[in-house]
Amino acid sequence: MMEKASTSSPEEITDIKPYRVLIGCTGSVASVKIPKLVDELIAVKLNKCLEIQILSTEHSLHFFDPSTLPVRLYRDKDEWDTWKTMKDPVLHIELRRWADLFVIAPLDANTLAKMANGMCDNLITCVARAWDPKKPLLFCPAMNTFMWEHPLTAVHIDNMKKLGYVEIPVVKKTLACGDTGYGAMAEVSTIVSEVVNALGNKM
Ligand SMILES: Cc1cc2nc3c(=O)[nH]c(=O)nc-3n(C[C@H](O)[C@H](O)[C@H](O)COP(=O)(O)O)c2cc1C
Repeated sequence: MMEKASTSSPEEITDIKPYRVLIGCTGSVASVKIPKLVDELIAVKLNKCLEIQILSTEHSLHFFDPSTLPVRLYRDKDEWDTWKTMKDPVLHIELRRWADLFVIAPLDANTLAKMANGMCDNLITCVARAWDPKKPLLFCPAMNTFMWEHPLTAVHIDNMKKLGYVEIPVVKKTLACGDTGYGAMAEVSTIVSEVVNALGNKM
């Protein structure tokens, strides 16, 4: 074991490191798809292992049961519970260091507006505000058609793209509220392929 490690080139050692994906989820009804997104990402065959951790806003937790997930989930409270003294790590900075990729799915209108304007008042937005611009950040908007068509949405999405973040566009469907139109989160299969592509893999 020791011998093998000592003869590895730096590239080989890097290859052993898994892909580390952070999923951020916010208070859109599309958060009901979080368990499916996690399952489908875990099922993808990649050239390295995949580690996943989830960051959730409090409103997102209304739409799924975190205890059913096979991966660790952090909520806003964890930021403050894990910091007691100056020696303690700051969770949003540790998570930003840990991750290779950040995908926010679903990204609701509220968190979209906050991110597009640099606000950082919870775990997801603090990770985003501290994000390393060399690493991919993907976002999957999800909202009612009336919210989607509001002129502010285009302004916010444009700001996000100017920051180098990758939009996984909404699709048209009959939404949970009964309206039909654009605003629904992209299909889980689309999100999985975009994540895999951004990690530099082929499905
Ligand atoms: C049942 C329900 C469904 C909602 N679905 C959406 C949605 O799909 N998209 C959206 O932008 N907001 C939606 N909202 C509103 C957000 O939950 C609300 O703006 C909240 O403040 C978002 O907080 P967060 O961004 O911190 O998660 C919904 C609210 C409720 C009560």
